[in-house]
Amino acid sequence: MAGEGSKKLWGGRFAAETDKLAEAFNNSLGFDRRLWREDLEGSRAHAEMLVERGVLTPEEGRAILEGLERIQEEIEAGTFPWRDEYEDVHMNIEARLTELVGEVGGKLHTARSRNDQVATDLRLWLRRALGEIVGAQQRLARTLVAEAERHLEPPVILPGYTHLQRAQPVLLSHWFLAYYEMLARDTTRVLDALFRMDESPLGAAALAGTSFPIDRHQTAERLSFRVPMRNSLDAVASRDFVLEALSALAIGQLTLSRLAEELVLYSSFEFGFVTLPDAFATGSSIMPQKKNPDIPELIRAKAGRVVGDLVTLLTVVKGLPLAYNKDLQEDKEPIFDAVDTYVSSLRLMAALLPGLVWHPEITKRAAAGGYALATDLADYLARKGLPFRQAHAVVGRIVRKLQEEGRELESLSLEELRSFNELFGEDALVLLSVEGAVASRNVYGGTAPEQVRARIAEAKKELEEDGS
Ligand code: ARG
Repeated sequence: MAGEGSKKLWGGRFAAETDKLAEAFNNSLGFDRRLWREDLEGSRAHAEMLVERGVLTPEEGRAILEGLERIQEEIEAGTFPWRDEYEDVHMNIEARLTELVGEVGGKLHTARSRNDQVATDLRLWLRRALGEIVGAQQRLARTLVAEAERHLEPPVILPGYTHLQRAQPVLLSHWFLAYYEMLARDTTRVLDALFRMDESPLGAAALAGTSFPIDRHQTAERLSFRVPMRNSLDAVASRDFVLEALSALAIGQLTLSRLAEELVLYSSFEFGFVTLPDAFATGSSIMPQKKNPDIPELIRAKAGRVVGDLVTLLTVVKGLPLAYNKDLQEDKEPIFDAVDTYVSSLRLMAALLPGLVWHPEITKRAAAGGYALATDLADYLARKGLPFRQAHAVVGRIVRKLQEEGRELESLSLEELRSFNELFGEDALVLLSVEGAVASRNVYGGTAPEQVRARIAEAKKELEEDGS
């Protein structure tokens, strides 16, 4: 072993080669390769700035930029020699640069460290990824509003539930819009995260800044960051920007999981409200009659995975001392996984919803059954002056009697109603229709067609303003 020392880019102070197991454990190339485009972007901005500040000569700068250009071509063509011995994407690119342009390639890393480099790359990558997510969210939002509009005329009525017990009838359109509202908030959470992460760590170097006369404002501007980060320790040590993104994605995936769960339930034989499109369901290898809601089930399950990604990184960052620690290399797989999972869930949901076939007679029958109009009767008595608590008790007695006799509310005659309370008049019978019950909830945010129609019009305007 007397000898040459390590062949690593950082091998100067090392007398021996790295243990093979340790090398494999340390290696991040398998996943951080995804940052190559951002790594080149950051390097270009850094090299150009170094030339402008006189740290590199124009010829050196040109050679480096040309080398970076060739690397980009190689990666895009699939001919770039990715090598595990260079540990990560940053050192693969730097090593290749020196092979392509000679020793001057080694000057690119002047006044920079992999610590500010990787923090910059990941912010650039995430900015782009979150932009894509917002696009996918907006496409799903448009689908939800389109479905709400499609089922408004004639109105599809389904039972609304509390405790998964039939509670009061609602419009299917109103149900779609509930998910639209949730998704719209999910989007604002992503946009908020995007705003805060839009700051440049580049130039913080290893942790303390650098003695070279660099211009961090210039590189920030060149990379379209709002500002350079104000503290070099914070710049290389902080991953709250990833955590914030992960938590926005986890909440977003939870929204999708709830929608998915309702589709699983409503498409079951027991409910029979909706039929899933064949293209998004699968059969059973043993039971010929089955059509399984695999796609909604997987979207539901992947909430566990994205929440896991969030918890993984929360746990990694907890208690970490300043500034950079290799622990932070563990930030990438969770955020890559969460982005991939959430984007594909959004796309699948948007593709699946328009293919659903709803069964309005069944949903309406279900909406009327289970005494879902009992509140309407109680409200009627309250409007006639009976305190609501007493009205509640009267209708409770009616429901109990009907239940004993195996009857529904619609079977009540006026005489029968009056035998419970003489405030009941002819007009009470009208209330015993689901259409009447839905139309009567004509308050802002309520399920009456008039309200829902107005909200659809607003939502369409909101989506137009969002462009894309
Ligand atoms: N692959 C590393 C990461 O993802 C890059 C930064 C390494 N920095 C260091 N000082 N070893 O975090």
